[in-house]
Amino acid sequence: MKEGTIGALRILHDFSKAISSTLDVDMVVETILEKTSAMMGTDKVLLLLLDGEDNTLYVRGSAGFSEGELRATRFYNVGSFDHCIVYKGSVITLKEILPRGYYRRIAAIMPVLDGMVFAPLETGGRARGLLGIEAARRRLSKVELEILCSIASQSAVGIENGKLYRKLHDAFLHTAEALAEAITSRDPYTGGHTRRVVEYSQKLSSSLGLSPEEEEDLKLAAILHDVGKIGIDDAILRKGGLLSEREEALMRMHPEIGARILGFVEEMHGVIPGVLYHHERFDGTGYPEGLKGDEIPLQAKIIAVADAYDALTTERPYKKALDRDEAIEEVRRSCGSHFDPSIAGPFCELMKEESPVGKD
Ligand SMILES: [Fe+2]
Ligand SMILES: [Fe+2]
Repeated sequence: MKEGTIGALRILHDFSKAISSTLDVDMVVETILEKTSAMMGTDKVLLLLLDGEDNTLYVRGSAGFSEGELRATRFYNVGSFDHCIVYKGSVITLKEILPRGYYRRIAAIMPVLDGMVFAPLETGGRARGLLGIEAARRRLSKVELEILCSIASQSAVGIENGKLYRKLHDAFLHTAEALAEAITSRDPYTGGHTRRVVEYSQKLSSSLGLSPEEEEDLKLAAILHDVGKIGIDDAILRKGGLLSEREEALMRMHPEIGARILGFVEEMHGVIPGVLYHHERFDGTGYPEGLKGDEIPLQAKIIAVADAYDALTTERPYKKALDRDEAIEEVRRSCGSHFDPSIAGPFCELMKEESPVGKD
């Protein structure tokens, strides 16, 4: 590693940039392991996090260990290592914070631990974990020690930010779901519709191999697919029987109303395709635009199958609910007309395997 303050600053700046470029905790952990190994010139890196209040450290990530080298993934009865936070730039070994007999047993099956030093992960004045490197064969210089400790504290912030973002995002999804359910439950016959459409869509998305970003957008689009019903009159939404031609035309406006509402929020643009086109049909006879085949976005094709399947299996005043096998058969019959066979086919296979999603 390049010695000297300028070199150290550059290294830490690069690390900080890398760590703050993502809010996904798994990716933050990957970056920490990879960059620590490169920056400290060591193969073996171990990231341990404290588990709640029970004095347990668990392995959150590791790099450079050969198979069988890390035989334990949790360490119990961990003593306090808050003093490392107080004395900046000080590192510790596991031997110092685990009970003596316990450490001897652990080190006997994992001798690699004897050669590792750890810097604390600190946020808000509390130690949250340890970042360790193999450093037995050489003494770390003062600059290297300070760099390791700085990497560890930046890592702690990166992980904490990722966790907070996840929490915030989950809270947002729950709020969106509650809002969507409140809107659609004005129709007294469709309780739990949103939740089930989300569940069916998610099952299908994982079997279709969508990227994590596509899955995120799909989930939100499924939650909000009927949000435009907020603009549909109660008299139509709550009508027990079949709709008149005029009422049907008004009802058919809900995808466009939903897309228009979401269009005001920049962060929602990724979900508009699913909201706007979930009533399009593969043969081009759907609405609002009569898109055909691959003109229909994937997100919308997935929601269309999930939405229709739930409608088929839900009882309405003018029709009985189909059971699972009947509904699967109905979806199969509509492959190529209503649904894209490459989406509806795998969906039917999935539904055959899964136990039915509970109705409210
Ligand atoms: Fe809809
Ligand atoms: Fe729907």
